[in-house]
Amino acid sequence: MDRVFVTRQMPPTGLEMLREACEVVVWEDDLPPPQDVLMQEAAQSDGLLSLLTDKVDAALMEQAPRLRVISNYAVGYDNIDIPAATERGIPVGHTPGVLTESCADHAFALLLAAARRISEAERYVRAGKWQTWHPTLLLGQDVHNATLGIAGFGRIGQAVARRATGFGMRIIYTGGSSAGDVATELGAEQVDMETLLRESDFISLHTPLNADTTHLINAEALQMMKKTAILINTARGKVVDSTALYAALKAGDIAYAALDVTDPEPITMDDPLLTLDNCLIVPHIASASYATRDRIGQIAAANLLAGLKGEPMLHCVNPQVQGK
Ligand code: DGY
Repeated sequence: MDRVFVTRQMPPTGLEMLREACEVVVWEDDLPPPQDVLMQEAAQSDGLLSLLTDKVDAALMEQAPRLRVISNYAVGYDNIDIPAATERGIPVGHTPGVLTESCADHAFALLLAAARRISEAERYVRAGKWQTWHPTLLLGQDVHNATLGIAGFGRIGQAVARRATGFGMRIIYTGGSSAGDVATELGAEQVDMETLLRESDFISLHTPLNADTTHLINAEALQMMKKTAILINTARGKVVDSTALYAALKAGDIAYAALDVTDPEPITMDDPLLTLDNCLIVPHIASASYATRDRIGQIAAANLLAGLKGEPMLHCVNPQVQGK
């Protein structure tokens, strides 16, 4: 029977699927397994079900000749050395599609919360500061009719754009080379990055993390943005240079940031971003609905089981190695 190591407890359906077919070892702690434990477990396993917090690198694979499949419980896979897996003929699964709408809901929730300063307002009430109604209390920015710039017009970016049409927003985007029909349907206009930075009232990031997108939002980019601009990041923390972001928020070069993801994760308690009222930070929960997290587990389990059988995965990052 194949042995699989699952690096955290996850919603039940996916685990049940695995237990019907394999010997399943689950890491029970809430915190990730230390790297040496992860490596030891991977070395004894035929399949690894990893999370985005697990570093699945060439050194791990080198010590795990038995390992035949890696399945990531996420759409993003920047925690995995894909070329190293491909070189060793290990298929890597991921979970696109099932989390698109939940992530788009969350990006829009952050957009609205930042625009209308919801977390500040809630802190204000809890601190006992609400004494009267005042014409200039906690003023924010209108979302309706504003310009939304979407950097990365893939599945999630497009789903955010669909929500924005309900608010009468003008939508501009970068990337999404094959998104022509959807863009036309949504009335979205493809622009270059500089135009997106200069013209957007809200910028929502939906790129994968790779060499091209690391620090896509750096000091120069932040300088091009409107002073009233609001930045929303539900992609990956490293897409934004957080030192530059702090400086821009502090100096009023942009108005606000709403971050689902940070660099590093978790954010350290001495990070200066945590001192700013105009920065809303939540702990990487864009896909965190009950239904979606269960569906992610089902896809991750299905990918793992398919890979163990040598069959095509539902979603494989390196399909060229499948069946070899
Ligand atoms: C992903 O899947 O990559 C998200 O960041 C977490 O669901």
